[in-house]
Amino acid sequence: MQDEKNKESLDLSSPFKGTGGITILALESSCDETSASVCRDGKILSNITANQTVHEKYGGVVPELASRAHIKNIVPVVDTALSSANCILSSMDAIAFTQSPGLIGSLLVGSQFAKSVALALDKPLIAVHHMQAHVLANLIDDPKPGFPFLCLTVSGGHTQIVLCKSPTKMEVIGETIDDAAGEAFDKSAKLLGLPYPGGPLIDKYAKEGDPGRFHFPEPQIPGLDFSFSGLKTSILYFLQNAGKSQVYKEGSIATLDEQKKFIDENLADLCASIQQRIVSILLNKLKKAVVQTGIKDICIAGGVSANSGLRTAFEEAGKRYHWNTFIPAFQYCTDNAAMIGITAYYKFLEKDFADLSITASARHEFH
Ligand code: KG4
Ligand code: ZN
Repeated sequence: MQDEKNKESLDLSSPFKGTGGITILALESSCDETSASVCRDGKILSNITANQTVHEKYGGVVPELASRAHIKNIVPVVDTALSSANCILSSMDAIAFTQSPGLIGSLLVGSQFAKSVALALDKPLIAVHHMQAHVLANLIDDPKPGFPFLCLTVSGGHTQIVLCKSPTKMEVIGETIDDAAGEAFDKSAKLLGLPYPGGPLIDKYAKEGDPGRFHFPEPQIPGLDFSFSGLKTSILYFLQNAGKSQVYKEGSIATLDEQKKFIDENLADLCASIQQRIVSILLNKLKKAVVQTGIKDICIAGGVSANSGLRTAFEEAGKRYHWNTFIPAFQYCTDNAAMIGITAYYKFLEKDFADLSITASARHEFH
């Protein structure tokens, strides 16, 4: 049992005797970003990400193409992360990787690579949950939130309110019952004829638009859960009716030319109004979670936390309700290996190592 052996042979008294610090090579490959980071004692020495542009013309990530691109990218990305950190592979104290959730073919590339390196170097392997890593991206830079804190994690596949009691103890207290916030952005963008991923484009055009021009409904979902599928449907009907109605009426659909003309003439206002609604759905639930828990250190995380409308509204809510607000630096919001590295650092301190028999998993809840 490799993990048992590692636990016995590692002296984790302070300072760690391996290299004078705990240096971890971390890999992220759960979706369409191949990323590697070197992290020492919770500080990020490098964070290198190769984005995959191959998916743009398909309107979404094509899993098979993503796996192939990871295979092509992983060695150069790791090499660059090591050289940027001025480190060599053999000086790593552990190898960390995203184990779940994500696209299985993509996850397998990172997990197999990490396992091979850990085996070759005879170093511990650390398996990281991608959504926990998004939350802990808030611990990379100072100032850091104190425990317990709440985190609204908003990505392409998830929307969660997480109660974080310690770096390794988290509980999901609210989540989406259908689409994720990132999907709401991307699917709305697709309806507007924008390429994938549409979230950043909606953000860009929204800056020029009037968020009060069009009114999209806010779903009434009980508790701390979210729903975005109704919003998507009302946007679809609104565009199909060229702005005349948000409900489906037999025979009332505008011609494709009329629909396109309506979008072209109102793109900025449509983006601003859609963004405003997605942001208000998110923040209203977050406010409710703050009231329920009484917690005042509040974070956001995940790809959608790069959205300028959400960032501004979140900061404003913080001032208004006296929250201490935290947002990761831009490069740690979207998928990146630095967040895997910081999570692995805390798992290392708890000697939470994985056995080489561990496998990647497409779906996996917090444990
Ligand atoms: O966390 P992430 O990089 O990957 C997942 O784990 O899913 O999140 C990707 C999502 C995509 O849906 C993308 O459109 C969205 O984050 N996103 C944005 C922005 N930047 C990325 N959505 C709105 N505004 C942005 N600026
Ligand atoms: Zn992510």
